[in-house]
Amino acid sequence: SRVVKLAVIPGDGIGREVVAQAERVLDAVTADGDVAFEKTRFSLGAGRYLETGDTLTDDDLAAIRSHDAILLGAVGGTPGDPRLKDANIERGMLLKLRFELDHYVNLRPSKLFAGAPGPLASPGEIDFVVVREGTEGPYVGNGGSIRKGTPHEIANETSVNTAFGIERVVRYAFELAGRRRNKLTLVHKTNVLVHSGAIWQRIVEQVASEHPDVVVDYLHVDAATIFLVTDPSRFDVIVTDNLFGDILTDLAGAVTGGIGLAASGNINPDGTFPSMFEPVHGSAPDIAGQEKADPTAAILSVALLLDHLGLRDEAARVQRAVEADIADRSTPRSTSEAGDAIIARLQA
Ligand code: NAD
Ligand code: IPM
Ligand code: MN
Repeated sequence: SRVVKLAVIPGDGIGREVVAQAERVLDAVTADGDVAFEKTRFSLGAGRYLETGDTLTDDDLAAIRSHDAILLGAVGGTPGDPRLKDANIERGMLLKLRFELDHYVNLRPSKLFAGAPGPLASPGEIDFVVVREGTEGPYVGNGGSIRKGTPHEIANETSVNTAFGIERVVRYAFELAGRRRNKLTLVHKTNVLVHSGAIWQRIVEQVASEHPDVVVDYLHVDAATIFLVTDPSRFDVIVTDNLFGDILTDLAGAVTGGIGLAASGNINPDGTFPSMFEPVHGSAPDIAGQEKADPTAAILSVALLLDHLGLRDEAARVQRAVEADIADRSTPRSTSEAGDAIIARLQA
């Protein structure tokens, strides 16, 4: 029978609380199948840093790389914690994993499920996927500052956009649109970011010629935020750079019932490295340790993980259990009560 080696990184704050429930769901849905999940737990994040001074060692990275997939909660301490000033867990651990494991597709689906507490009065059908580039843009760490702390300080953070990097993620987005509703929206800011905007636009046009069935649209990122609120049903697949995609997907989470429902996959489509699945949200220091976090985003990330591994029935069962729970959930409830409710739906 098949064995899947899964690296589990609970991380910090509510990351640990939601991953505990996601693991229960994974265990339950795979209990009677013929795929065995062999889990390795990695202690990483702000907690580990405060204990040992490590963010992600070469040994950690090598060990994680030897797995088939990764389930991550969230990392990061309380913004502004002076003990973490020099650590930069986000860059040193989370982004390092995304870059080293070549997660060039950051897949972030947004769907307004029946009964979800969305904030929009008449949302229509919301069902789109943001294909966020995951290895380039302003995230690469190509920057620096001179005359630091003086009135003449200059701080730069250069956005890196390569033809290779854009083309591969754009191709993925077109293929995805072709399996969905054949609509692709490029989001950028070509009126101001003329160089990076032009290369994104040109590559989208080139790849579009190979996908005559896909209708291509373009929006500046500021206008995209308007339409995500006023007319979200216009979107099918959105392709965009790393930073715009980060911002748009928190907004997308909010319009589809809250960040506690938003799942994501950091995908290496080539299969050279393990893909990593995680909720879009962070470690939420404001509610950490109180069992208040909604584990749904982490559980839906398990559905994405199962689907990625080709375990389509299991993925669909998790998805259906979550949808049934959202349609009929009692609030307030604790993180583990939410896990109980979803597991009960799984077995129903
Ligand atoms: P956050 O997503 O952690 O929290 C934003 C708000 O959403 C908070 O009010 C929080 O309580 C709420 N929230 C988030 N997830 C929730 C859930 N599952 N259920 C209920 N409410 C939820 O964002 P932040 O406050 O900007 O960041 C906190 C820390 O997390 C920072 O250190 C940040 O860098 C880090 N972070 C990590 C990741 C990641 O590991 N992938 C993602 C985002 C932020
Ligand atoms: C996310 C987070 C990360 C990002 C941070 C914590 C580096 O906000 O996963 O959306 O910006 O990608
Ligand atoms: Mn984010």
